[in-house]
Amino acid sequence: MSKVTIATLQKMKQEGSKFTSITAYDATFARLFDDEGAHALLIGDSLGMVLQGCDDTLAVTMDDMVYHTRCVARGTRNALVIADLPFMSFTTPEQACHNAGRLMAAGARMVKIEGGDWLCESIRQLTRNGVPVCGHLGLTPQSVHVFGGFKVQGRDEFQAEEIYRHALSLQEAGIQLLVLECVPAALAERITKALRIPVIGIGAGPATDGQILVMHDAFGVTSGYTPKFTKNFLAETGDMRAAVRLYIQQVAEGTFPGPEHSFN
Ligand code: KIV
Repeated sequence: MSKVTIATLQKMKQEGSKFTSITAYDATFARLFDDEGAHALLIGDSLGMVLQGCDDTLAVTMDDMVYHTRCVARGTRNALVIADLPFMSFTTPEQACHNAGRLMAAGARMVKIEGGDWLCESIRQLTRNGVPVCGHLGLTPQSVHVFGGFKVQGRDEFQAEEIYRHALSLQEAGIQLLVLECVPAALAERITKALRIPVIGIGAGPATDGQILVMHDAFGVTSGYTPKFTKNFLAETGDMRAAVRLYIQQVAEGTFPGPEHSFN
């Protein structure tokens, strides 16, 4: 596979080809995912939960993100490397630019930012300064305590309209990619069709342009609660490389996620 850029994902959207992304936190797994053809690798602040053992992502620092981004970037040849701006690291456009600059210098090629239209000014400043931005709507884990738990978002009509409106505003402000997490499949389909930019789903049904999973979920090694939208590809294959290939194959052919992994 040749180098994946945002232009690659945009073209895949236009052609109707589904792309696959997965979280990575170190060079060894980044290389494995990259070798097997994952299109994008996300250094997610989910590392607070799956690496650091916290109950949520709020304690993750910029230093943590820079360290893991550097590790993943070293192991990646072709996949698009996206890094999360962690909790409270983008409260002003100036702070967002400063911290995004640190992630880009560590090897990220795009930064992801959780939230709605209140981020438009930050997104404009970031893109003007050469930082590509991925939005993140729906169940945004940094707001878990506002939601009162890890709950599906956009189930009622008002909330669904809000998420839809935020998606359009973020696109207008300049995001080039959007993650939709834990929203009803019909809402994700409506947003994916309305946006020019590619949309990546997690717990958002099969209609998004791409899918993402936390790597520990794809290998079935997450301790404690296993969300409905995940799938243990290692159980089916017994081999990590084969598990990643199966995940990519099932996303490409549209068999993952199935109805059993989606919310209505
Ligand atoms: O932090 C993360 O891993 C994420 C994905 C779940 C999209 O934001």
